[in-house]
Amino acid sequence: MEKIYVRGGAPLRGTIRVSGSKNASLAIMAACLLVEGRTILRNVPDIRDIHNMAEVLRELGATVRFSTDGVVSIDAAGFQETNAPEELVSKMRASFYVMGPMLARLGEGHVAQPGGCNIGARPVDFHIRGLQALGAQVKAEGGVVDAYAPRLRGANIYLDFPSAGATTHLITAACLAEGITTIENAATEPEVADLVNFLRALGARIEGAGTSTVIVQGVDKLQTNREYTIIPDRMEAGTFACAAAITRGDVVLENVTAAHMQPVLVKLQDMGVSVTAIGADVDAPGLLRIAASGRCNAVDILAMPHPGFPTDMQQPMVALLALSDGASMVTDRVFENRFRYVSELQRMGADIRVEGRTAFVHGVDRLKGASICATDLRAGAALIVAALAAEGESTVSGVEHVDRGYGALVEKLQMAGADITRVDSDHPSRLLAVG
Ligand code: EPZ
Repeated sequence: MEKIYVRGGAPLRGTIRVSGSKNASLAIMAACLLVEGRTILRNVPDIRDIHNMAEVLRELGATVRFSTDGVVSIDAAGFQETNAPEELVSKMRASFYVMGPMLARLGEGHVAQPGGCNIGARPVDFHIRGLQALGAQVKAEGGVVDAYAPRLRGANIYLDFPSAGATTHLITAACLAEGITTIENAATEPEVADLVNFLRALGARIEGAGTSTVIVQGVDKLQTNREYTIIPDRMEAGTFACAAAITRGDVVLENVTAAHMQPVLVKLQDMGVSVTAIGADVDAPGLLRIAASGRCNAVDILAMPHPGFPTDMQQPMVALLALSDGASMVTDRVFENRFRYVSELQRMGADIRVEGRTAFVHGVDRLKGASICATDLRAGAALIVAALAAEGESTVSGVEHVDRGYGALVEKLQMAGADITRVDSDHPSRLLAVG
């Protein structure tokens, strides 16, 4: 079993390159099934979830080729399978997004119903209700969702909650539907806007990218042989920013779109962290300098749908707050059970109390290295951030969760001066290729 070993105390210094967005890439890869030919994606992160999605697409008849750094070619001319493989879909919730293209191109789809995970129940009722509004007959029984639609028809859809996944999935399905679809109370996350911009680049007719009302005018086909560059991963960037802050380092992040990170950057500045966007255009990928010389101030955080503070960043932030000066209240209004990692931080000496959707954090002077276990990818990020500043050595297990969303994490942190290694604990003499 692989483990990550961290000896805390080294301030991070130097430059760290941020990869492309996991969540934008997953939505866009599924949407490539709409195309009766080849699409080239750039800046795709090399992480486990991306390879899982590639496997799903291949099982459905598409060809997926990874070439040089971050370039992926997807050819969906051969997409004809309407049964998504349960063993693959059950690994990753985003696989459910293939249902929309199945209905749009093949008229039916059979996809395992994603289960809950370590952060909540995570039903797909908004997805199902939206597909039904688009004219599909949908049945969810025995852990499988069966859907039929000879032709999807435009509809007015109102989401009870601005669900990122449901918004991306329904926009994708509506692209080839007959007529106009309006999605109200849509998610406005940058990853959703990136999907819309991708589809528009292929000839889809969509207005309202990144707003809470998205209007899709169905077209007959999308264009083939188009290329698209995925936005940077704001959560990976935010995690490195927390790591720089907690170690009182001074780091320049490369390939970061500062405008996508506004809620996190404002909080870091309130905590006394120096945040400097280098370059003129904060709306385009550029450089971001993060530096801290002392202990951070405590702040309160309310994780909400965008443009609120992102739920995927509350975990690394709580790790940073655990060593801050003062008391913080962190509430997650998006997922009902996203504080399981707190018990691992408590093993390191963190003073945190969780009541329902809120963690009450009292900053302590020091954390002690410990053997800790990641229960999901963002929890793993939080534990590694804490371990980078803890006294002594920490052993982090559950590395497979971290690999789902962070590519070459150990290597990137090593390059910035962290004392971190990755070892196959069944064969300790064999130091694994970093990252
Ligand atoms: C996406 O998950 C992301 N995953 C999550 O990132 C992210 O935390 C989340 O959006 C919120 O931003 C991907 O993009 C692959 P939601 P998603 O639908 O789409 C409830 C990470 O760490 N809900 O916005 O599943 C749901 O239970 C992952 O990278 C329904 O009730 O999130 C949750 O409470 C974790 N019914 C809330 O809405 C539905 O049909 C928001 O979920 C759908 C969602």
